[in-house]
Amino acid sequence: MKKRHNILVLSLIMALGIKAAEPQRLILNATESPESAVALTFRFCEKVDTGKVQITENAPDVKLHTRAETLFLTPEIVYTDTAETLAHYVCSSRLRGLKEDTEYAYRAGSGADWSPWYVFKTAKRGFEPFTMIYLGDPQWGYMTYLPRLYDKAVRTAPDAALWYVAGDLVDYPYENWQWDAYFKGAEQVMTRFPHIMAVGNHGYLWAYRNKRDTLPPTWRPHVTQPENGPEGLEETCYYIDYQGVRLIVLNGNERLKDQADWLKQVMKKNKNRWTVVGVHQGFYPCGWERDYPEYRELFVPLFDKYGVSLVLQGHDHAYTRTWPLRGGKIVEDPSKGVTYVISVAGAKQYPIKSKFTDLYAVQKAEGLQYFQTLSFTQDSLVYKSYTVDGECHDKLVIKK
Ligand SMILES: [Fe+2]
Ligand SMILES: [Fe+2]
Repeated sequence: MKKRHNILVLSLIMALGIKAAEPQRLILNATESPESAVALTFRFCEKVDTGKVQITENAPDVKLHTRAETLFLTPEIVYTDTAETLAHYVCSSRLRGLKEDTEYAYRAGSGADWSPWYVFKTAKRGFEPFTMIYLGDPQWGYMTYLPRLYDKAVRTAPDAALWYVAGDLVDYPYENWQWDAYFKGAEQVMTRFPHIMAVGNHGYLWAYRNKRDTLPPTWRPHVTQPENGPEGLEETCYYIDYQGVRLIVLNGNERLKDQADWLKQVMKKNKNRWTVVGVHQGFYPCGWERDYPEYRELFVPLFDKYGVSLVLQGHDHAYTRTWPLRGGKIVEDPSKGVTYVISVAGAKQYPIKSKFTDLYAVQKAEGLQYFQTLSFTQDSLVYKSYTVDGECHDKLVIKK
């Protein structure tokens, strides 16, 4: 009976034109050495013994496959549903030894089945101006409203070096279809731009439901992020230095004190021109009268002391930007304070309701989809927020 079932599934797959060993959920993640390495994660939904990656410098001819270096990977079997019925064969790789400031072509596959060739670029050593994209929560609208946002963001900043997503990638991380839809909807950007991602409270939903406070097994199979944070928080709390900018991502869901201790050490040795922090939960929330005083107590003095320019958050499903703040007070000059932004990319939307918005917000908006660009030069950081139609509705220039 089982054999017959397998034959039926195989016939269906063939009828649909789907290759059994087709690599899915491809994502590029930035590494802590972005000038010489990039991380690539993908999975198969059929059993595969060996996954493969080919990589070579990009070129206009059609012989990339003859020159490419091939890496062989052993897939890790993981389950991303609560019932542990759906096995995934996940390949996580760090492609190292790359040349700086160079365009590479890569593809992933197994046997004779390959993805298309995709192209990305490595970072340059030392300070070099660049632009990055920042998105608030995707979470709803993976295949309906989000693709138009990715498309507009790419048209607005086609050469963005990095994409940062502020957590709550999917609504229910134990629902396999949501990961499928999220990755499918974001394919055009995940395969081309190295991502850094914060984990949101929805990343932890499985754990909360099971009364556990540890990271659920749905996170690490989907991303391959730096492991330079506190022990046990690998791939959720980390930093990267990208062309003279330190980007620090915090995990707002657990062990905040350990992260504050780690952050202090990371900041002391920071020689970068600019520092930006990404975290899911808002320090000055704009929805549902939320308030997380322990976040402010632990981190705000460090952000003030060590010259963080911007804190990029999500979680409240609306848009707010605070005045520059120092010690909880508004300061005039953005270079003398820390600006806190909350944004949302996806279709899940909340109304703004918060004492913090009344006190501190210089700009607020709700009910729309937004994306942001941050452009760094030696003496300025230009921050812009766009609505999904490409209109810039908010802008801040921080001068050094
Ligand atoms: Fe959230
Ligand atoms: Fe959310």
